[in-house]
Amino acid sequence: MADRTVPPTTTDAGIRAPSDEHSLTLGRDGPIVLNDHYLIEQMANFNRERIPERQPHAKGSGAFGYFETTHDVSKYTKAKLFQKGVKTDTAMRFSTVAGERGSPDTWRDPRGFSVKFYTEDGNFDMVGNNTPIFFIRDPLKFQHFIRSQKRRADNGLRDHDMMWDFWTLSPESAHQVTYLMGDRGVPKNWREMNGYGSHTYMLINEAGEKFWVKFHFMTDVGEMSGNAHLTQDEAVKKAGEDSDYHRRDLFDAIHKGDFPSWTLKWQIMPYEDAKTYRINPFDLTKTWPHADYPLIEVGKLVLNENPVDWDTQIEQLAFEPNNMVPGIGLSPDKMLLARGFSYADAHRHRLGVNYKQIPVNSAKNAEVNSYSRAGAMRVTNAVDPVYAPNSYGGPAAQPEVGGEATWHADGDMVRQAYTLREDDDDWSQARALVNDVMDDAQRERFVSNVAGHLADGVSEKILQRAFEYWKNVDETIGARIEKAVRDKLGGKSTAPGLGSAKSTTDEATLGPDVVE
Ligand code: HEM
Repeated sequence: MADRTVPPTTTDAGIRAPSDEHSLTLGRDGPIVLNDHYLIEQMANFNRERIPERQPHAKGSGAFGYFETTHDVSKYTKAKLFQKGVKTDTAMRFSTVAGERGSPDTWRDPRGFSVKFYTEDGNFDMVGNNTPIFFIRDPLKFQHFIRSQKRRADNGLRDHDMMWDFWTLSPESAHQVTYLMGDRGVPKNWREMNGYGSHTYMLINEAGEKFWVKFHFMTDVGEMSGNAHLTQDEAVKKAGEDSDYHRRDLFDAIHKGDFPSWTLKWQIMPYEDAKTYRINPFDLTKTWPHADYPLIEVGKLVLNENPVDWDTQIEQLAFEPNNMVPGIGLSPDKMLLARGFSYADAHRHRLGVNYKQIPVNSAKNAEVNSYSRAGAMRVTNAVDPVYAPNSYGGPAAQPEVGGEATWHADGDMVRQAYTLREDDDDWSQARALVNDVMDDAQRERFVSNVAGHLADGVSEKILQRAFEYWKNVDETIGARIEKAVRDKLGGKSTAPGLGSAKSTTDEATLGPDVVE
């Protein structure tokens, strides 16, 4: 007897479904028939439920909330969302980088920290990480970097040998690898973790004056100011016990009304300083020392609403660093400029050309009057005239109102690294992080994490280079790492390196990042 207190099941066309349990057959024991459209709809839909996973940052989750500007920063930007008192709806997603959609949340990795602001000027996306810098500074190396972190061609396993091969051949990675092997590499949860825009962006005020800015979202939760972490052993255990540990933690906290929040702070650099500052301010492997550019408070980001449909609201959530609103823009950072292209391209592949019409990606607080039209899965109606310029009252661009973030550039076309400045080198900021920022306990964990990673499947050739790499960061730390690796290996031979498939049961079941 059907339960008439709940709504009737229907097909996707809204027609009452004939049954939730029985297919249409020729006789009770006979074959099913092709005209059981409802059965076919169920099977066909199921077969198409999975969209492609994100290439990097496949595993993650997110939630919704708001951002409120609490301080007057109008002298730096005219962006409406950054005017004191303005409250803006937001969507957020946290992620690991290298793992697949079902991989454990507690693998050692940087964490993605993406925020979509649904502003009245259109959507503004800040797609950052829980570290203020990155492994590389030229976008041509990004694809290679990610491949070295993912899986080998032959056995489909992740492999520490190729990770260290890439890192040690890319000395600019030292600063970020130091963060990765320290406590930030396995955060305790997403709520107690800081987020960083990492790149340098541009701000423009009402008078047209330009500034350079770095975004820092400092967690308001816990006592560890962004360094709440799991030890390697805890991370390994959690990976086995609950691979969705961080996803669950965020959902449960919001469900209980324990809303996580972050204080947004900016480092502002006057436009002209960038020309002569001792460090290239657009090099993504470097931070700006706070003594030179102190943090100023801007506002508060709060997450207070869980998704109700994870697939449509989180899996189909699409961030893109090119989503900039008037008053804020990109910068000459080569990585950032490449990202400005890459994400929208990824979304067209992953979600389809009309991905911005998916409700979670639509500019819900701004009017959309674009001339894009038609294409797969277009659901909003195009309106005539469908071209510009026109004489029939179609939308017309108003460049004087928007104003693009631009800067002076002039030179021959070259394929070369950034020009080096006085304090541009690959090691000193990593050295300062290990020696001046980490305390003894953090340094101890760092050495143990690096040694554990290196002693697990790295060939002798690459080990030698890794010891050099860490000695370039700091002689003493390098020597400690070398000794710890040799002690762990206890005279055993190391992995043979690429070309000879290696297979350990632990690695096959847990993945290399969680194996000591
Ligand atoms: C995701 C490309 C550097 C943070 C992605 C995706 C691509 C990509 C294609 C998948 C997008 C999707 O399918 O939804 C690149 C390229 C980079 C770069 C080409 C450098 C040239 C960075 C940097 C950061 C970063 C430096 C952090 C500062 C993220 C985050 C996500 C992501 C957080 C996940 C976004 C989400 O939650 O949906 N990246 N990326 N990426 N990237 Fe990057």
